[in-house]
Amino acid sequence: MRARIIGTGSCLPATVVTNDDLSKIMDTSDEWISSRTGIKERHLVKEETTASMSAEAAKRAMDNAGVAAEEIDLIIVGTLSADYVTPSCACEVQAKIGAKNAVAFDINAACAGFMFALNIANVYLQMGTYKTALILGAETLSKIMDWNDRSTCVLFGDGAGAAVVRAEEGTAGLLAFDQGSDGVRGSVLACRGRSNNNPLVETSKDLTYVHMDGQEVYKFAVTAVPCSLQKTIQKAGLTVEEIDYFALHQANIRILQSVAKRLKTAEDKFPISLDHCGNISAASVPILLDEMNRKGMLLPRMKIALSGFGGGLTWASAVMEW
Ligand code: ACO
Repeated sequence: MRARIIGTGSCLPATVVTNDDLSKIMDTSDEWISSRTGIKERHLVKEETTASMSAEAAKRAMDNAGVAAEEIDLIIVGTLSADYVTPSCACEVQAKIGAKNAVAFDINAACAGFMFALNIANVYLQMGTYKTALILGAETLSKIMDWNDRSTCVLFGDGAGAAVVRAEEGTAGLLAFDQGSDGVRGSVLACRGRSNNNPLVETSKDLTYVHMDGQEVYKFAVTAVPCSLQKTIQKAGLTVEEIDYFALHQANIRILQSVAKRLKTAEDKFPISLDHCGNISAASVPILLDEMNRKGMLLPRMKIALSGFGGGLTWASAVMEW
């Protein structure tokens, strides 16, 4: 029995903000952003919410899979920017799509959130607890950015991606997984939650926006990700050469280039969406996968390696046969 992705979907907000648009409201330029990151534009929410984009991505994934809402047993959303503390985004999605038979919950593993959610679903499906899962990565990062901090706010975007995953007999599906965390280095990429304002403490005026040490994050990514990918490929009984595509978290083109170099493989095996999406944390892997699927890039028996990495610090990789 394998957990196999049988459908994908995604949803980006209607409003596109280019690097030139940003240069009109802050001291930055297309040249600075695109040369250092590969990002040209991103989508930012106006009317959309994390849950509304998630529900739309979910419907598109279910259409793509040919699965009805009643067939979904499990919904997991990887997110660090749900609309509410409670109810979870997953419960909101359940209500919006009418998946009345599903159990639904969110998990937070930052940019690795979709990958962690996929692995949790994999375990449930392997054990026979559930048969059909809807796995999402969804973010409204624009609400947790400090729009006065040009070194972070230009990097991120909003959006949601989804995959329908089903337990099936056969060779296709998830072959191997690797996950890791390093809480000791968590402060290099952090965003405080709301401050405690109970009567026993003074209300803190600390920033509640994303704070990042870009160079430390870069060093983390270019060492942890190739190592995790190599481990997962080996666990799957494959070699790097046998992988057709590497669908990685879309943080920065330089990270992708460095991972390709360290794995001694071709850069053109690393499809990108960051040029038009920016970094959408947990949503970036499923959005990329959906774009690849809709372009017809994913053919039966292809071997695809996925990897997410980011805040926590956290990272997770998977190898699947499509
Ligand atoms: N526009 C113009 N200038 C800027 C901007 C901007 N948007 N942001 C910063 N600068 C300036 C800084 O003020 C600084 O100026 P100074 O030299 O006069 O002091 C200069 O550019 C260099 O700033 P650094 O922060 O040192 O820039 P760096 O070259 O490290 O590039 C970057 C920053 C692109 C974030 C890089 O560190 C990086 O690639 N990090 C990887 C981390 C990453 O991609 N994180 C994404 C989110 S985390 C994740 O998803 C895993």
